[in-house]
Amino acid sequence: MPFLENAWYIAAWSDELAEGKLHRKLLGQDILFYRRRDGSAVALASRCPHRFAPLHYGDLVEGDRIRCRYHGLEFGPDGTCAHNPNDDGPPPPIRVRAYPLMERYQAIWIWMGDPDAAADHPLSDEFSYLDDPDRYAVCKGAMMLECDYRLAIDNLLDAAHANFLHDDSLGSEALTRAKTEVREEGEFIHADRWAPNGAPSPFLGQFLGSFTDPVDQWANSRWERASLLSVDAGATALGVDIAEGIRFRAAHLLTPQTQTSCHYFWAAARNFSLDDETLTQQIAAATDHIFTTEDKWMLEGQQAMLGDTDFWAARPKLLAGDHAAVAVRRRIDRLIEAEQAGAAAP
Ligand code: FES
Ligand SMILES: [Fe+2]
Repeated sequence: MPFLENAWYIAAWSDELAEGKLHRKLLGQDILFYRRRDGSAVALASRCPHRFAPLHYGDLVEGDRIRCRYHGLEFGPDGTCAHNPNDDGPPPPIRVRAYPLMERYQAIWIWMGDPDAAADHPLSDEFSYLDDPDRYAVCKGAMMLECDYRLAIDNLLDAAHANFLHDDSLGSEALTRAKTEVREEGEFIHADRWAPNGAPSPFLGQFLGSFTDPVDQWANSRWERASLLSVDAGATALGVDIAEGIRFRAAHLLTPQTQTSCHYFWAAARNFSLDDETLTQQIAAATDHIFTTEDKWMLEGQQAMLGDTDFWAARPKLLAGDHAAVAVRRRIDRLIEAEQAGAAAP
């Protein structure tokens, strides 16, 4: 299955690209990232057009250029060859692909498709909570998953697994049993759960502070093309407006690496104890631990069982609780089909 190219994907957290170079394979393409002297980020295809040396082996030189380590061709931030040290003539008329980037919400976002289509699909402002220190304290992380990115999306939209894989962390009988309202609204797909008067998950329960179990709780997820999920989850004392409650906004951002591996970037923003740096570190460690020890091995196990077989070709026997994940999969399928049909059109 091809990837959806006309979409903003997260390439890195901003602080992963400090100085120097960063090499990542995204959507099957090797990409070199670096910063210009003015701090703005650059993304270039990392295969030298001369004899295919990795440009990420190269050196950053004067003029915000990357110099290939093999024969010294230099490429500027726009991808054009700006210097050939091997003869005295003008630089050869060759170039590497330069990808549109933007830096927002503490992340570097890359557009992998037709540059002219980028303006038609602006990144929503949903993730502004990642850059709103007056209202939210944020921790974040990233990891590789050896699975198709869509298995990870399925997982993140699937409440039913929480009581099994996450029974002593995110599991909550009340939330799992709550009905999921799935809504397709334009470009977005929502999956909302509201669970009044129930026990919170062990993870949420440790932050209740001034109120106690049982609680009213919610977990609302929103999908945005192609693989960006935002979750709003929290709890209040019974019958109290949710604005009074403890609230987590979580970003789960996936970027395919290959057909069977993906980059997973996560961030958790909380609306309480904003200055408690120790708490921020504890939440970061707990979140990483939950995903690493409870989800990752299962996702990779699923991929091992599927091998190269397409998800639909393997004929999954779906349950009612799969509604949201299936709606998102169908939408991604349709977007990819439309993109491929457009690419094939004269
Ligand atoms: S392979 Fe890059 S300059 Fe020759
Ligand atoms: Fe999970």
